[in-house]
Amino acid sequence: MSYTIALAGKGGTGKSTVATLIIRYLTEELGKSTLAVDADPNSTLGLSLGVKVDRTIADIREDVVEKKVDIPVTMPKDRYIEYAIENSIVEEKKFDLLTMGRPEGPKCYCYANNLLRKYLDKAEKNYPFIVIDNEAGMEHLSRRTTNDVDLLIIAFESSIIGVHTAMRITDLIGKLPIKIKKKVYVMCKVPKKGVSGKVESELESFGIEVSARLPFDDEIYESITSGESLLQIERGNIVYDGVKNSSLPL
Ligand SMILES: Nc1ncnc2c1ncn2[C@@H]1O[C@H](COP(=O)(O)OP(=O)(O)O)[C@@H](O)[C@H]1O
Ligand SMILES: [Mg+2]
Repeated sequence: MSYTIALAGKGGTGKSTVATLIIRYLTEELGKSTLAVDADPNSTLGLSLGVKVDRTIADIREDVVEKKVDIPVTMPKDRYIEYAIENSIVEEKKFDLLTMGRPEGPKCYCYANNLLRKYLDKAEKNYPFIVIDNEAGMEHLSRRTTNDVDLLIIAFESSIIGVHTAMRITDLIGKLPIKIKKKVYVMCKVPKKGVSGKVESELESFGIEVSARLPFDDEIYESITSGESLLQIERGNIVYDGVKNSSLPL
């Protein structure tokens, strides 16, 4: 069985950055093979991992549902989909990447999410770690059956709004029929001077314990804006160090 780590949090917070640094830690430092899943329709995990994604689950859905491919009559549709998903996975030396993409319209989300879920249930056997980078509230994972989330990381920015958003996302996820074994909070882009007393007391009033406080770092910022992979940044980078030395149970 895999240890499944899921990331949630408002867009732009730092989820994909944290996901990438965790994947780097698991693969480079712990030598564990990892399935990276970009389940955010606004897919950017491939970029920060430095891999090119040609096909997504959304593309496969479109091919099948809109009959854009001729599936051989001898091949059951499910077999074709399974085969297409396996082919869409980018295989790197230390990790594989599966990308959901952006399905068009609400029903299409449902279809693509089902495909993703089915594949994840199967992937359990093959990878010691699965890291899923999600959209804000992870609604699409809600009906997963066999595979629970071992560690949910809620990423949030170091402001009052960030804390409130983290709480709202926590409530939202709490309402989903999904089993989460452990839930932790990671504060992203913390300014050099630290966070204000107001933010600290807001955290306290909500009872939020923060497992990692990751600093704002120019190297990280520039590497993403210039399209470079976060696997290339210095090993001693302060944000990477923050992930490695955090109390996250990785
Ligand atoms: N610790 C950090 N220091 C500097 N910039 C960061 C940091 N974490 C994230 N960023 C920047 O913030 C933006 C959003 O980060 P990203 O990880 O893509 O967020 P999300 O996946 O939640 O949308 C990116 O430009 C990224 O480079
Ligand atoms: Mg992202």
